[in-house]
Amino acid sequence: MQGNQSAKIDVIRRQLSACGQDHLLSFWDRLGPGEQAGLAEQIRELDLDKIPTWVETLVRHAPQTPVRHEEFRPAPSYGIVPRTDAERRKYADAVKLGKELIAAGKVAAFVVAGGQGTRLGFDGPKGNYPISPVRNKTLFQIFAETIKAVSRRYRTTCPWYIMTSPMNHEATVRIFESNDFYGLDRDCVLIFQQGTLPNFGFDGRILMADKASIARSPDGHGGSIRALARSGALADMKNRGVEYLSYWQVDNPLVKLFDPLFVGLHATDGAQMSSKAVIKNDPKEKVGNFCLVDGKVTVIEYSDLDDSLAERRNPDGSLTFRLGSIAIHIISTDFIEKLNTEGFSLPLHRAVKKIPHIDSQGNPVEPAQPNGIKLESFIFDALPIANRSIILDIDRAEEFAPTKNATGVDSAESTRAMMVDRAARWLESAGVTVPRRPDGSPDCLLEIAPSFALEPEDLKVKLDQIPAIQPGGQVYLG
Ligand code: UD1
Repeated sequence: MQGNQSAKIDVIRRQLSACGQDHLLSFWDRLGPGEQAGLAEQIRELDLDKIPTWVETLVRHAPQTPVRHEEFRPAPSYGIVPRTDAERRKYADAVKLGKELIAAGKVAAFVVAGGQGTRLGFDGPKGNYPISPVRNKTLFQIFAETIKAVSRRYRTTCPWYIMTSPMNHEATVRIFESNDFYGLDRDCVLIFQQGTLPNFGFDGRILMADKASIARSPDGHGGSIRALARSGALADMKNRGVEYLSYWQVDNPLVKLFDPLFVGLHATDGAQMSSKAVIKNDPKEKVGNFCLVDGKVTVIEYSDLDDSLAERRNPDGSLTFRLGSIAIHIISTDFIEKLNTEGFSLPLHRAVKKIPHIDSQGNPVEPAQPNGIKLESFIFDALPIANRSIILDIDRAEEFAPTKNATGVDSAESTRAMMVDRAARWLESAGVTVPRRPDGSPDCLLEIAPSFALEPEDLKVKLDQIPAIQPGGQVYLG
């Protein structure tokens, strides 16, 4: 048995040595059997064949792929309001189809929640961040209540898939358990983990977190394509007859899940992966840009869009590249299946980061400056692979208020303000008087629970349940 083990470790040592990573076993002889088994398992999960290429093309140097600006074209989009009679008919049919698909249980919710949320400085999974303006409901609770309300409206059960990472999986499951799955049917909530990728020092050597573990980080939201298949989530979708995923990021409480128009347009046009977009606030807003490259919808990160293109304007003064990505998609399950059976992988992107690790003596190092590279893949890199992809450009104020930072732009404060603004608009559209300050902002705190209204029209039949809103007051409708 002993001999067998040492033969196995010799094989691993040779494989590691072949890709310049044998230091991963530096402390092997000092580890207990459990630690050895754990480390061997982590090494098995590494894509050893790919590591030399990653080191050469992504770690030691930044990639040198030329950005072909001259080939970028602005991507076409559907507007939130139809522009012609033909479009009006198409939208009406799409909404009808979208509603039918939702009611038939063919659409599932899919949130990616495996990120580390470092910018927000919140301890624990970001989905547990309290965000609603009056009741302080967490992001997870708002999504759960929305899914419950949609299920009730369509007399169906909408399944919810939640992707976590090894860094926050157990904590996420505990949160759902301690909240009794927010009243959802437990069998319809599937929480699964994405994969990880090793962290590298600038010299190309994989960093060790401690003597028995490799420094790793989640493999990006693009890792969801593989994780959906590996975790059994995709098989579960097939069993349930799910054909479309309503995909979003955990930081956006305004997201309109199960949007019949979006689902319907995606299905009518035979798209495999579609996106919602907003008109950018300014040419260099920090969102991905929807472009056409070789005729394919492609997201070009703001940092990769040349200033001259970002600033380019149409004769009417609007930005030529005006559509910003808000990471809301419809993805067909057969597209995810196809990607997995073709053994394909999304490109990796590098990020220079401060990565705690141990040095060659085993002493912990807490770097004050960036000291290494993390790799990840992005879901939007699947867009150009889709045989068809549509974009629906929506009203930012209605659907996009991400909580990314502790203060300032895209912070909890700005998200809450947008939640109150939206509630105020909805109430006013139903004929309710909302007190406003001289600058036009609502002079009150408002929160509308998804169970009370999923859209402004829902308020019109509940006017008798809405109290008068006093200046400086707060109202919760639930
Ligand atoms: C992202 C997009 C940007 C878009 C913006 C909209 C990228 C690179 N950029 O920026 O184009 O305009 O959102 O809000 O994505 N996640 C995982 N696993 C991971 C990494 C992330 O599940 O390994 C999840 C996070 O939990 C979060 C989401 O992906 O829900 C976004 O991650 P984040 O790193 O916050 O993306 P942004 O840089 O904010």
